[in-house]
Amino acid sequence: MPTRRRFTLGLAATALAGAGAYAAGRVFVGRAAAYSTAELSQTAVPAPAREVAVSLMPAPRATALPAFGGHALPLWSFAPGDVFPNVVRLRFGETLVATVENGIPEGQEDLTVHWHGVRLPNAEDGVPYLTQKPIPFGSRFTYRFTPPDPGTYWFHTHCNTAESIGRGLIGVLIVEGDETRPYDADQLLCLKDWRVGTDGAAGGFLPFLTDSGASKAGTFGALRTVNGAVSPRFALPAGGDVRLRLINVDPTRVPEIGIEGAEAAIVAVDGAGIPPVPFKTWRLGPAMRLDLVVRMPPTGGEVRVVDYFAAEPVVLSTLVATGDTLARGAFDPAPLVRPAIPEPDLGAAERMPFVFSATAAGAAVGGADGIPFGPLCASEKTFWAINRAPWPNRGHAVLPPPLADLKRGRSYVFELANVTPHVHPIHIHGHTWRVVKSSAGPVIPHFADTVLVAPKERVEVAFVADNPGDWMLHCHIIEHQETGMMGFLRVA
Ligand code: C2O
Ligand code: CU
Repeated sequence: MPTRRRFTLGLAATALAGAGAYAAGRVFVGRAAAYSTAELSQTAVPAPAREVAVSLMPAPRATALPAFGGHALPLWSFAPGDVFPNVVRLRFGETLVATVENGIPEGQEDLTVHWHGVRLPNAEDGVPYLTQKPIPFGSRFTYRFTPPDPGTYWFHTHCNTAESIGRGLIGVLIVEGDETRPYDADQLLCLKDWRVGTDGAAGGFLPFLTDSGASKAGTFGALRTVNGAVSPRFALPAGGDVRLRLINVDPTRVPEIGIEGAEAAIVAVDGAGIPPVPFKTWRLGPAMRLDLVVRMPPTGGEVRVVDYFAAEPVVLSTLVATGDTLARGAFDPAPLVRPAIPEPDLGAAERMPFVFSATAAGAAVGGADGIPFGPLCASEKTFWAINRAPWPNRGHAVLPPPLADLKRGRSYVFELANVTPHVHPIHIHGHTWRVVKSSAGPVIPHFADTVLVAPKERVEVAFVADNPGDWMLHCHIIEHQETGMMGFLRVA
């Protein structure tokens, strides 16, 4: 097989309406307009098999992103350059061969790379101790897998993650080949806040994990960015249908995304295509992705991507209609392909309750003092639990029992119940759920690997446990994960 390198450092694209209709990010109140695509029929056609070799060199690097106002901050990154995020692109059908060399001498001894949302073989899942040994400083490990689905994904470490994501150690993985008709442009919007003080980047980073944050909604970064810049402007084709790939890589913030100044439609959630749905707003929790198609206004017009979950809407980015206005007719966005994710058999599915709760505040669970991270990189404090069991902090290589044993090939309905006063984006590894229903109201039918569960809400997700191995189930507010809201499922 021919091997070629394709590691896009940086971004290809040029740098240059009412909230609240959806409760909890998923609820769909009335169909304001309908598009011609009611069902996805086309499936993805694989590109010729070949390997795409990528080398990832996680290391500390002083990095001056546009948002840092001329200062360089001690970031951790996968490749050199004042660029955020690093993007790996491959085509559906191609095999990613990613060689990771751990160049982080301190604070990331348990480094592995987790490919968030990809339904890959367990040995490639990148969870230290659970699926592989950590990659020691100075050593290499090669991941090799062929993504089974096209779409928008990302990758990050799975230990000391509050610090490593806090320092920017994330990458975006785009698997092309899901479009049934090409859009006029493809724009990545990677959302991340940085933990710097109100005086900006000059003072360096503030602590990434705090007890007061971890025990509540998390520790927020004050410097809000898209692709490493504050409210960047992007020049996009006037009158065109533009694909926006929104990815929230922040460990904490749950924005409510809105679009002002244009019609927009949702075409995929967490990488998986859905029949286009008129877009109102969407709560995009940590790790969640949303692909929108936006109809750009005529030349010179502007579209704002905003976060409504704030006292005043925050403009995250502005899209500027550029060039001669394209004549595209009435807005009827092209759909993406139909996901190849197996459909759970709801009638035959076994139901399992998962209750997300707080523990007695800050109870310590074993672990020697001064050792901040345990076997799966949990903090020494515990604030959260799944089915009353917090992740225990014990000696290396000692895993707790699985939260559940699942039979390979069987359908399951997980009832996710949040009995805390905070939202939790709950993530499953190795599988993709169908979001079936919510106690908060009707749900847009979609697949997801990370689902937001609001306080007092109960969300039902269903899936076929078709991927053997031990798979993490955890909250993606990373401080919640690292203080107990984490466990694993065993599929055999
Ligand atoms: Cu992106 Cu286990 O997570
Ligand atoms: Cu949480």
